Amino acid sequence: MSLSGYATPETTRRTGEQRQGVFHERRRPLYEGGPFVSLVGFGSYRIGFSPSLGHPQCREALEHALRRGVNLIDTSTNYGNGQSELLIGQTLATLANENALSRENVVLVSKAGYVQGNTLELVQQRERDGRPFEPVFKFGSDLWYCLDPEFIIEQLERSLSRLGVDCLDVFLIHNPEYMLKAYEHNNIPVDKAQADFYGQLAKCFAALEKAVSVGQIRAYGVSSNTLGATSDDPTAVSLARLLDAANSTSQNHSFRVAQCPLNWIEVNPIAVESADDEDNTLTLARKNGVGILVNRPFNAMNDGGLIRLTRPTVDSAAVGDDAQRKGLQNWTRLSLDLEKLAREYISIPGYEEAPLSQLVLATLMWQPGLSSVLCGMRRKEYVVDAEVAAALPMLVNADQIVAQIYQDLEFHKDGN
Ligand SMILES: NC(=O)c1ccc[n+]([C@@H]2O[C@H](COP(=O)([O-])OP(=O)(O)OC[C@H]3O[C@@H](n4cnc5c(N)ncnc54)[C@H](OP(=O)(O)O)[C@@H]3O)[C@@H](O)[C@H]2O)c1
Repeated sequence: MSLSGYATPETTRRTGEQRQGVFHERRRPLYEGGPFVSLVGFGSYRIGFSPSLGHPQCREALEHALRRGVNLIDTSTNYGNGQSELLIGQTLATLANENALSRENVVLVSKAGYVQGNTLELVQQRERDGRPFEPVFKFGSDLWYCLDPEFIIEQLERSLSRLGVDCLDVFLIHNPEYMLKAYEHNNIPVDKAQADFYGQLAKCFAALEKAVSVGQIRAYGVSSNTLGATSDDPTAVSLARLLDAANSTSQNHSFRVAQCPLNWIEVNPIAVESADDEDNTLTLARKNGVGILVNRPFNAMNDGGLIRLTRPTVDSAAVGDDAQRKGLQNWTRLSLDLEKLAREYISIPGYEEAPLSQLVLATLMWQPGLSSVLCGMRRKEYVVDAEVAAALPMLVNADQIVAQIYQDLEFHKDGN
């Protein structure tokens, strides 16, 4: 039997003395008029039932996070080939049976668009049956991408079933810029690509409006790794144009949430204004009552490589070969340098002992207009760490701090 209901502003505000702790106390609206969410959300990429997906530690971490008051879970239909949603569904059902939480306390976000694993088989079967989804973009034998509104709704229904709920709080189109990548690959002019892209998204939004009206979802939006990228990037996605597309489907639309990466190295949503937007993404979102969730706080992509913005937790004695030991030394040095740099700009007391992970989280969670930071808390100790970060003093100038750190990092890059 599935859990009925959904999160509301009333059910997600702190209730009663027994609900103590910073994840209950410091909450803010996910979007204007929407449910309240904790400063940090549980990111569910790479969780599932196999040891390679971090089981059983990830389940323990999720339970601990929910019991401590993390009330936002971000997942997707393709995470762990559906296992992420299944694990979340099982955990919610267990805690609901124990009366440790109710469906109305938790904000559930899932996504669709990727065609991989079991979903790839389904989409291929439709092709064989002569009823293909359209458009489908094929990037290789194991990765396709689909923006057919019928596919999006079909995926939504599977998502509801795996999560064991009647209604999702938010459903996002997952990295739709794949369509722009496909057009770029085929040398289609950018203007045509952009027109087709927002036109296709408007069709998906119309289908999601129907899903809102029948009570399958409360709100919808887009998660994009290129949201707010500069216009020289042919795969850039603009919040202004997404809102235009939503407005074209309904004056009273339910496009309420956007998601994108934000960390000390990838600062598009706060620092770079795309050519056709007057405001940066966060400011524009705030003006339009749209909530912004940010992801990958610690996984910073830099020129195709990845920089992990945490202190290493690996014991150097456990590292076998010389190259790995050198890598670990470099990472340790970088993390200490970054901590020192951040402390130069964080002048209020309380941050003296905070390790890099907490400095990163605090500077992101206090960005003006941001709803919550999604964090890949696959282990209980990461949840504990995030809770300490959320309890640090509020940073009123978090936008300036991140801009300064970013500028210094740019300076170092140029100088070396
Ligand atoms: N396009 C999209 O929609 C999109 C894209 C990216 C992410 N997301 C969402 O955002 C969530 C967060 O992103 P992410 O998981 O990729 O990256 P992340 O939150 O930056 O975490 C990266 C890794 O850092 C480690 N970590 C986490 N907390 C830590 C802590 N307190 N101290 C030290 N290490 C820590 C974990 O690695 P180990 O477990 O390996 O130790 C984790 O997998 C995802 O889970 C997903 O829900 C969405």
